[in-house]
Amino acid sequence: MQKNQIGVIGLAVMGSNLALNMADHGYHVALFNRTYEVGVKVISENPHTHLHLYKELEDFVASLEKPRKIMIMVKAGNPVDLVINGLIPLLDEGDIIMDGGNSNFHDTIRRTEAIEAKGLRYLGVGISGGEEGARFGPAIMPGGSKDAYTYVQDILENIAAKYNNEPCATYMGTDGAGHYVKMVHNGIEYADMQLIAESYSVLKHLGGFTNDEMAAIFNEWNQGELESFLIEITAQIFKEVDPATGKHMVDVILDTAAQKGTGKWTAEEALNTGTDASLLASAVFARFMSSQKQQRVAASEILKPEFDKAIINDKEYFVEMVRKALYASKIIAYAQGFDLLKNASVEYKWDLDFGAIARNFREGCIIRARFLNRISDAYNTNPALANLMLDDSFARQLEDYHQSLRDVISMAIQNGISMPAFTTAISYFDSYRSARSNANLIQAQRDLFGAHTFERIDMDGVFHYEWNSNNEEK
Ligand code: 6PG
Repeated sequence: MQKNQIGVIGLAVMGSNLALNMADHGYHVALFNRTYEVGVKVISENPHTHLHLYKELEDFVASLEKPRKIMIMVKAGNPVDLVINGLIPLLDEGDIIMDGGNSNFHDTIRRTEAIEAKGLRYLGVGISGGEEGARFGPAIMPGGSKDAYTYVQDILENIAAKYNNEPCATYMGTDGAGHYVKMVHNGIEYADMQLIAESYSVLKHLGGFTNDEMAAIFNEWNQGELESFLIEITAQIFKEVDPATGKHMVDVILDTAAQKGTGKWTAEEALNTGTDASLLASAVFARFMSSQKQQRVAASEILKPEFDKAIINDKEYFVEMVRKALYASKIIAYAQGFDLLKNASVEYKWDLDFGAIARNFREGCIIRARFLNRISDAYNTNPALANLMLDDSFARQLEDYHQSLRDVISMAIQNGISMPAFTTAISYFDSYRSARSNANLIQAQRDLFGAHTFERIDMDGVFHYEWNSNNEEK
């Protein structure tokens, strides 16, 4: 009997679509789901000669050719450990377990160690692109032992999205590297979305644009350098009308954003690695603030925002200003994301290839964008680039666009419109380009109250100063 080439455990939206994608590429896929009926439903709704559902995990495992290749597609956290623990006694040396969920990279490092100690192989595989991506071509970010990867490389490359025929499935590095890159992808995703949401705020409240007009604006933006999946879907969202009320969908949706944790992990990692990823973190905080709906409603009665519509005389000029502000902020968001990757690469000894990561993001994933070609070019020109903003072409563009960012922020702030991501973007830009910061004063304060010492600009060594001594004489 024909053995299955790969197995998928977990047949919710992502797992079932990934399995169908594999089957479409000619692989015989073994399927297993803890609740068998879910699998039966998947098979009956998507009959495919290459999908083979098993009721017992033992039969599922036995149906696989060796070394067995098993992709786990269950909820991140404990469910992954439960599946792994169930699998281990059934597997043989050299078999490969992959985790295709949004697992925390710390868990992936721990699991890699434990599983490889048993003679098995493990890969933490970041997968992006939502339901559609899983079905027709996601961006795939595998991490783990290179040796294990060689066994699954063909399958992953075949099912991945393609950019100019190049598969968006790139080996990222050992143990948790793949899930780390996916986490940062999501951190950037949060920032991209928040920046678009703030652009929406100013277009709506300062520009007075209607949803239909905003659909046209975003559609137009999507024809130019901002072209990306998120801009495209934003244009689509503004057009959608709720059949129940006849109102625009966007206007009937509650203004509290949910989150599943990957953005928060990115912010935590910024803190852990000593990276300024303030823009990425601001997007996470903005979601927290959005979920305080009741408090915000109560506060709006007490703190009374004065929400005057600014009179925008030249609407065309204003839209172009917002566009430039958005693009400049986007450069800064990615500069932070890639800076985090750079620091993590050192911290966790991954030797990440930043150009390859940018290329991997060009198709299939949520942050796919024309812009990523420029990031890839920047790292091709200089693989050791300290910060994306220092790349010649980005530096020149920031020089060109940063005034628009300032203008949009000023108008928004004057009118009481909250702009957490835009304002952090400009602060990051300004602090990064300051040859002399204000931290000399912080050091002085630390030394005064705690004798924490400081260094000097004119002498080598570490110093402590007896503060107050000059003043006593006066
Ligand atoms: C992807 C997405 C996906 C993520 C959703 C929702 O790359 O396909 O990043 O992995 O789960 O975007 O994330 P939040 O619920 O945290 O917004």
